[in-house]
Amino acid sequence: MAAPLVSPSILSADFARLGEEVRAIDEAGADWIHVDVMDGHFVPNITIGPDVVKALRPHSAKTFDVHLMISPVDPYLEAFAGAGSDIITIHPEAGPHAHRTVQAIKALGKQAGISLNPATPAKMLDYLIEEIDLVLVMSVNPGFGGQSFISSQLRKIEAVRKMIDKTGRDIWLEVDGGVNPETARLCIEAGADVLVAGSATFKGGPECYAANIAALKGSG
Ligand code: DX5
Ligand code: ZN
Repeated sequence: MAAPLVSPSILSADFARLGEEVRAIDEAGADWIHVDVMDGHFVPNITIGPDVVKALRPHSAKTFDVHLMISPVDPYLEAFAGAGSDIITIHPEAGPHAHRTVQAIKALGKQAGISLNPATPAKMLDYLIEEIDLVLVMSVNPGFGGQSFISSQLRKIEAVRKMIDKTGRDIWLEVDGGVNPETARLCIEAGADVLVAGSATFKGGPECYAANIAALKGSG
């Protein structure tokens, strides 16, 4: 089985040293940098905005995988695109017109992702999958790092894998929440190819990041 890409969530980084933390995970072998944006409305937590994404941009040339947990989302797409996001992922529940939001992300020249909450069925993708570059299966309820993996989401990963394969297009299948070396293996077996990991990447501090990322890739 191919090694997955690892996209560390900087939600678990030391926010007082965010630039250094991004450089450290970049050097430790992170494939992408996962940025969790929360608004205290769509999810019960508040994190960072486009100015922070912009400030972090010079610290890594890797793909900025920006996960927007905000509602409304449309008014902020331009700011996140301009700040240097490469992939912009939204939740279909964040607004009434997910298809239009996807078009708007693509019109800004960015890759578009759709994120499915644990209770949201794979079927939600039926009329979006042809348009998108990434599907993000949430394996925790969004809002906080450090939660436990919800096993029922493995079935959803399998279902989404089938849907993606049917399109014949290259669409990333990413999993986010409670990913550690054990659950990572289950996600990969179910068909995931990108793993988001906050706690499992940042635990132990900078000297552990390379080993933590290798363990998630199954080569630790
Ligand atoms: C949750 C976020 C996740 C989270 C993952 O709302 O989208 O990216 O930070 O954290 P861990 O890996 O600690 O579950
Ligand atoms: Zn996330």
